[in-house]
Amino acid sequence: MPASRPVVALTRRLPPEVERALAAEFDLIENREDRQLGVAELRDLATRADGLLATVTDPLPAEVFAGESVRCRIVANFGVGYNHIDVPAARARGVVVTNTPGVLTDDTADLAVALLLAVARRMGEGEREVRESRWNGWRPTHLLGTRVSGKTLGIIGFGRIGRAVAQRAHHGFGMRIVIHTPHEPPADAVAAVEAESGSLQEVLGGSDFVSLHVPATPATRHLIDRRRLAMMRPTAFLINTSRGDVVDEASLAAALESGALAGAGLDVYQREPAVPEALRRLPNVMLLPHLGSATRESRDAMGFKALENLIAFFAGRTPPDLIP
Ligand code: DGY
Repeated sequence: MPASRPVVALTRRLPPEVERALAAEFDLIENREDRQLGVAELRDLATRADGLLATVTDPLPAEVFAGESVRCRIVANFGVGYNHIDVPAARARGVVVTNTPGVLTDDTADLAVALLLAVARRMGEGEREVRESRWNGWRPTHLLGTRVSGKTLGIIGFGRIGRAVAQRAHHGFGMRIVIHTPHEPPADAVAAVEAESGSLQEVLGGSDFVSLHVPATPATRHLIDRRRLAMMRPTAFLINTSRGDVVDEASLAAALESGALAGAGLDVYQREPAVPEALRRLPNVMLLPHLGSATRESRDAMGFKALENLIAFFAGRTPPDLIP
């Protein structure tokens, strides 16, 4: 009799090539309707599958991994950020967690730069005007934005994505780069963009644009709050493609509304897919639906990385992207 194959639960639909490759290796439990699952449903999957292929929309708190009935031994996260997973609790129950670093760096950095350009040049406002037939022609004072080239970009967090944003901004737009990072940044990455380091206050106060690239952890929750927003220049723009939790959304909306901050470009939110009305009604904020890694190339690569991690684990090897 052939040996039975591990059962892997896919919490969302994945790119077709990835689903086909997974089906060739494992018996799958699928979420054919691609519905966002709740904790109870995820827990149920953890009792029926040997592995979960999970995404950022799956809350995986300790209770998902607790109890004798849990069969799951690996969570292969489809994404680099894993703040939705209680990794210590999983580990304590002997469940391995992996992620997909590296493959989405360029696309996420591209999107951060796109957001920066879009808010600085008021593209959202302009596009709405055209679509709604409100544009009544060119005039010298129409929708004036802010120049990007040659300005100062503050980067909070200088990991892969922060560095990729700095490269684009420095070499593409001649921007001066100032960084704040809790870790010693690699000297070659600093030199490559001629970055200057500063305290959080110095970077916030000395930048025309600030882009956030820190993971969501208890230490970074509301890192950008009312007090820190007040350190920014009233002419400055905040870009967030990291995690919604890093910014206090209510304080951000208040700062944008009062003119204490010129604008913001956001791809992530505290309670996705909910986006506060206080932000949605403001013209000076560009709002995207968590599109950082949303290219066919990145999503295929993320899927194949998750597959690689699952294959290694079930073959008894250490998965390449094990979260320590
Ligand atoms: C990530 O990889 O963390 C993205 O935010 C979602 O895929």
